[in-house]
Amino acid sequence: MKRKGIILAGGSGTRLYPITVGLSKQLLPLYDKPMIYYPLSVLMLAGIQDIAIITTPTDQEQFIRILGDGSQWGLNLTYIEQPSPDGLAQAYVLAEGYLRGAPSAMVLGDNIFFGHGLPEMLHHADEQTQGGTVFGYHVSDPERYGVVGFDADGTAREIVEKPEVPPSSYAVTGLYFLDGDAPKRAAQVVPSARGELEITSLLEMYLTEGLLNVNRMGRGYAWLDTGTHGSLLDAGNFVRTLQKRQGMQTGSPDEIAYEKGWISADALAERARLFSKNDYGKHLSDLLTHSD
Ligand code: DAU
Repeated sequence: MKRKGIILAGGSGTRLYPITVGLSKQLLPLYDKPMIYYPLSVLMLAGIQDIAIITTPTDQEQFIRILGDGSQWGLNLTYIEQPSPDGLAQAYVLAEGYLRGAPSAMVLGDNIFFGHGLPEMLHHADEQTQGGTVFGYHVSDPERYGVVGFDADGTAREIVEKPEVPPSSYAVTGLYFLDGDAPKRAAQVVPSARGELEITSLLEMYLTEGLLNVNRMGRGYAWLDTGTHGSLLDAGNFVRTLQKRQGMQTGSPDEIAYEKGWISADALAERARLFSKNDYGKHLSDLLTHSD
């Protein structure tokens, strides 16, 4: 069965108040694009065209206004409501009817990835049909994340959510490739002390059965944080610096859809016209005239 995508884009966003009082965090601008464009691009780079977007009931309308049915990118987008933010693992329970036994790649709507070799890394994870793959990333503040503990031989032994004493400096990023059993397993997760269905509890189930592959992302990748006002601005500046220097886009669903042959040149031209007043639109029309 073909892998389906999930973008988890609910949550209360209270850490970014007051900017998220009236607007979902995942729709905030990251320099020149809404934040969700970046994780959406990651799923597209993985070759995924069927994607469910999980949002709060109140924000759903706004996501639909921004992303529509996905046909402008050759995608099939479906929207699912999460009535309250009860934890990341709940996404699989909510998406069970949508997945219908298919394997999935779930990405958090506020996780930004960049790096040479990303498409190959994603392709490799996609190829694994049984069990799952997650990505470990070396950070200076692992206690803020799910953290991987390794054996002496480098095999992943445990995954702990926000440990006071982190077993390593490798945080688990918000990108999870899991097989078709994920909803069934997620239904067995019990709420943690903070009252959430933790993704790390679900991952632990896979790990203890020897079914989880923990892939370390090297230092050549950027996994950016958008959790505070400062890191949000830093992430936006990172995108700006890169795009300005390279004259290329990062996190553009329009470009990826065109490169993958999911949309025609005419369709891309129509998108370029929509944004003709800015550099994003100019970049899209350049794609139609240059092949380098
Ligand atoms: O970013 C990676 C980290 O994400 C992982 O290392 C952790 O293991 C994982 O638990 C998660 O940690 P966070 O503390 O960052 O989770 P947070 O509650 O901030 O939620 C992450 C995103 O998911 C955020 O954009 C809101 C959204 N969310 C969260 C919850 C709890 C939902 O859409 N629904 C939810 O129920």
